[in-house]
Amino acid sequence: MGLIYVFLALVPALAVCEDTTPIPDRKVCYTDLGCFENKAPFDNAQGRVPKSPEQIGTVFRLFTRLNRTDGQDLLYNDSTSFASSDFNSSNPTKFIVHGFGGRLSNKWMVAIKDALLDTVSYYA
Ligand SMILES: *[C@@H]1O[C@H](CO)[C@@H](O)[C@H](O)[C@H]1NC(C)=O
Ligand SMILES: *[C@@H]1O[C@H](CO)[C@@H](O)[C@H](O)[C@H]1NC(C)=O
Ligand SMILES: *[C@@H]1O[C@H](CO)[C@@H](O)[C@H](O)[C@H]1NC(C)=O
Repeated sequence: MGLIYVFLALVPALAVCEDTTPIPDRKVCYTDLGCFENKAPFDNAQGRVPKSPEQIGTVFRLFTRLNRTDGQDLLYNDSTSFASSDFNSSNPTKFIVHGFGGRLSNKWMVAIKDALLDTVSYYA
């Protein structure tokens, strides 16, 4: 039993010591969004920089009291997607952002969205 515990403790230490290759500086720029570098304080992703919006396929899904369940997709660079939706800039707007690897369908995302639609006052 004692040997197994020692082995498990050593594996992470060896893995950390092995990779001493310096990470090259990287910088990417995207129209409308600006530039991103992998220098501090954004040096916590193993040297990676954000992929392009085309690769990520970023979508903002709008949920309102008129459309609580399906939602409507808004594209940040396409004003017609706003015009054809229920978006009304006079009403309070809240953004819920999931982290890396998260999804819109995560239970906590749905629960927060529902709680906000149930409680936020239009005249707050
Ligand atoms: C908006 O950006 C996407 C990539 O995120 C691109 O595919 C699309 O052509 C752009 N649309 C407009 C109207 O610029
Ligand atoms: C919600 O929006 C979607 C996408 O525009 C639409 O297909 C659906 O009919 C809407 N639902 C309601 C209840 O308005
Ligand atoms: C937008 O919201 C405001 C405040 O709730 C309301 O007075 C107005 O009629 C709405 N506009 C549309 C186009 O629904």
